[in-house]
Amino acid sequence: MKIGIVGGTGDIGEGMAMRLSPYYDVIVGSREQDKAEATCTMGREQMAKRGKPCSMKGVTNQDAVDAADVVILAIPFKHAASTLATLHGFENKIVVSPVNPMEKTDHFVFVPPPEGSAALMIRSILPKEARLCTAFNTIAANKWKALDEELEYSVPVCGDDAEAKKTVMEIVNKVSRLRAFDAGPLTVSCMVESLTPLLLNIARYNKMRDVGIQFR
Ligand SMILES: NC(=O)c1ccc[n+]([C@@H]2O[C@H](COP(=O)([O-])OP(=O)(O)OC[C@H]3O[C@@H](n4cnc5c(N)ncnc54)[C@H](OP(=O)(O)O)[C@@H]3O)[C@@H](O)[C@H]2O)c1
Repeated sequence: MKIGIVGGTGDIGEGMAMRLSPYYDVIVGSREQDKAEATCTMGREQMAKRGKPCSMKGVTNQDAVDAADVVILAIPFKHAASTLATLHGFENKIVVSPVNPMEKTDHFVFVPPPEGSAALMIRSILPKEARLCTAFNTIAANKWKALDEELEYSVPVCGDDAEAKKTVMEIVNKVSRLRAFDAGPLTVSCMVESLTPLLLNIARYNKMRDVGIQFR
């Protein structure tokens, strides 16, 4: 299976690419191919140092969409709509949104778009044949990149296409000790997206780092 990451050069994209690369062909996308290639060079070095297999290729965002079976949208909410407007070919692909619409003043606040969540806004932009799920919304970039640490977190997954959701949950369960939980349809993705500002505020006010969630 080929997993493309739009914005794969960013904070969570880089860590995701490395963590997924032993199990899947990871296609790192960027607005600039050179930047994507640099991420892959760094990723291959990090994985080789640890004696781990790694399949990573750096391309443009459009080439990442074209090559992938599953596309992760690792881009900031404020650039999601404009980025998607430049891309095409999502029909019948599984698309994963880890996107959280939030703002920071002296604390973090969930600021959803009129659709109710980033996922529902993205749903309204993508072609209807795209199979959209949310996942990975609550895992901090630092944790993705700390390759020598296990990721002991629960990952709620929302989506309306049962088969796509099953595939996304299988991908989640491949990574470290992540555990996927079916969190319902896309309409409830606002609840998942709003967890991240909560976690960040808890970290800030309790002097903690990279707070995560576990369902038990
Ligand atoms: N950071 C976290 O800890 C975390 C945790 C959970 C979920 N998330 C979610 O994951 C998504 C990515 O977060 P991130 O922290 O990885 O973001 P980021 O590092 O700020 O940006 C990711 C990538 O987006 C692209 N980008 C930046 N500005 C752009 C623009 N104006 N137009 C188009 N593309 C642009 C860049 O790729 P190129 O320059 O290579 O094109 C960049 O590397 C967000 O929606 C966030 O809510 C983040």
